[in-house]
Amino acid sequence: MDRSAAAPGVLEGSDVGSQKDRVVTEEEWLQKWEMGNIGFHKEQGHPLLQKYLNVLLNGRSGLRIFFPLCGKAVEMKWLADMGHSVVGVEVSEQALKEFFAEHSLPYHEEPVPEISGAKKLQSTSGNISLYCCSIYDLSSYVSLMITLMEKNSSYLLVTVSYDPNKHKGPPFYVPESEIKSLFGNHCEIKCLQKVDDFSDRHRQWGLDYFLEVLYVLKFVA
Ligand SMILES: C[S@@+](CC[C@H](N)C(=O)[O-])C[C@H]1O[C@@H](n2cnc3c(N)ncnc32)[C@H](O)[C@@H]1O
Repeated sequence: MDRSAAAPGVLEGSDVGSQKDRVVTEEEWLQKWEMGNIGFHKEQGHPLLQKYLNVLLNGRSGLRIFFPLCGKAVEMKWLADMGHSVVGVEVSEQALKEFFAEHSLPYHEEPVPEISGAKKLQSTSGNISLYCCSIYDLSSYVSLMITLMEKNSSYLLVTVSYDPNKHKGPPFYVPESEIKSLFGNHCEIKCLQKVDDFSDRHRQWGLDYFLEVLYVLKFVA
């Protein structure tokens, strides 16, 4: 079923309302994992990633694919099974251990000498390397993504859209204008699809629409 949606009254511009400057702290994320409060994790994978995987792969094999903020995303296993290698970064060690356990993948751990307290958990087969540290230990997120992208490489980015005056987040509303101001100097930005993802959970938050918005960013300079 194509759930493409024309959302009523979708906000744009920089109108993030009451969410300005809101963040979920690392401690809050760790707590979510400890409490099993992980409604963001999709056990069957993300339907938009499945649908648009070809946009990312573009017929190429043996890629090295980066999953920032990877959690225990099941797509990491699929892509490794397809012959790609996967690098992830995640602050919750529990999430990474659950990933390996749930896919019955043996792994080993080693410290990352360059980053105090960081660990690398690597599948024994060597094709999945997951770094347990804050992505901000590596660099700021956008500049990191830009430095990792080679010319013509593609980055699939999913955001959510709803009326931020009705829900304080998380997840936080990210307008297209923000994507443009963060990445626009280096990337061509194309919105691939807006999908209606509205459910009872969102109604309980006081919302009347909730969209997922998928972009493909192509690094050009
Ligand atoms: C929206 S969830 C993504 C979950 C993932 N798609 C999955 O299926 O499990 C965001 C993830 O980023 C992690 N995270 C948040 N801030 C982080 C940071 N500064 N560095 C590394 N990971 C972070 C959280 O622990 C959480 O697992």
